[in-house]
Amino acid sequence: MAQPHTTIQRSLWGLGALAVGAFAYGVIVERGHYRLRVEQVPILDAGSEPIRILHLSDLHLAPWQRNAVSWIRALGDNPPDLVVGTGDFFGHRDALPTIEKALEPLAGIPGVVVHGSNDRVGPRSVNPLSYLFSPTTPEEKGEALDFDGLKRLYTETLGWHDIDNGRVALTVNGSELEFVGLGDAHVGSDMTDELPQWLEAAREESEQNTGDGSVTTIGVTHAPYQRVLNTLTTHGAELIFAGHTHGGQVCVPGVGALTTNCDLPTRMARGLNVWEHGSRSSYLEVSAGVGTNIYAPFRFACPPEAVLVTLVGDDIGYA
Ligand SMILES: [Fe+2]
Repeated sequence: MAQPHTTIQRSLWGLGALAVGAFAYGVIVERGHYRLRVEQVPILDAGSEPIRILHLSDLHLAPWQRNAVSWIRALGDNPPDLVVGTGDFFGHRDALPTIEKALEPLAGIPGVVVHGSNDRVGPRSVNPLSYLFSPTTPEEKGEALDFDGLKRLYTETLGWHDIDNGRVALTVNGSELEFVGLGDAHVGSDMTDELPQWLEAAREESEQNTGDGSVTTIGVTHAPYQRVLNTLTTHGAELIFAGHTHGGQVCVPGVGALTTNCDLPTRMARGLNVWEHGSRSSYLEVSAGVGTNIYAPFRFACPPEAVLVTLVGDDIGYA
């Protein structure tokens, strides 16, 4: 008959082995289980030609991540109509050539992009468990990255529009789209409070009139803080793209995310949902991202992803 203390010891060893196994799985297996999530959003005018949008977020690329680069490059084999980038593409100070190699097949495809705090400063060593219990602090003290080089890559090499606290109107497959971007609210670089003024001025400058019902407004931001989502919804966004949450990164099977690293409800940590504010609502697409902080290189019940969002006419289902 086993002694009580021996039984307890065996239980502790068992729990320890389980924890080590789960950690090893999160580092070695799931972190490389890239997948393309597919969504459909009915916000175009009835009868419009569909628009396929590739949503990339939180690549957190480092020079040694060849598998991630290969997977991202392969997304260009079936070219989308448009690319939306929601920031944190940098994962290491020397990663700019890696980012360029990953995105090269998407060059020339129309794109819009905003930035995350990790595009400006390099990652720091963090206690991975602290991420689960409180939002990360802004990485103001990290090493400065080649942020200007990243912006040149986007705008000059890839031909994308930098809409960090900005707006651009594009015609895609015959539909008029207005993209409204806000900076990273996690570090206060967003102009959310001033949006009514600058957006109105930008709309007046544009030849497009957003008041005739023929333009579809889409919000783009890195961190989906509620005040950002509320403001974009108030000002006409019918769909909002965001990242930052990593989908919770470490999730509990059957329960879901434990954190969003912001004030977004955990049930919206990843995926397509509806954000309601006042009498308005907007679809909200949050990507779990492709990468992780290099000092917290694991995922559990939260695989890395890119998202293919197809915009369709709002007459879907009534044909
Ligand atoms: Fe991130």
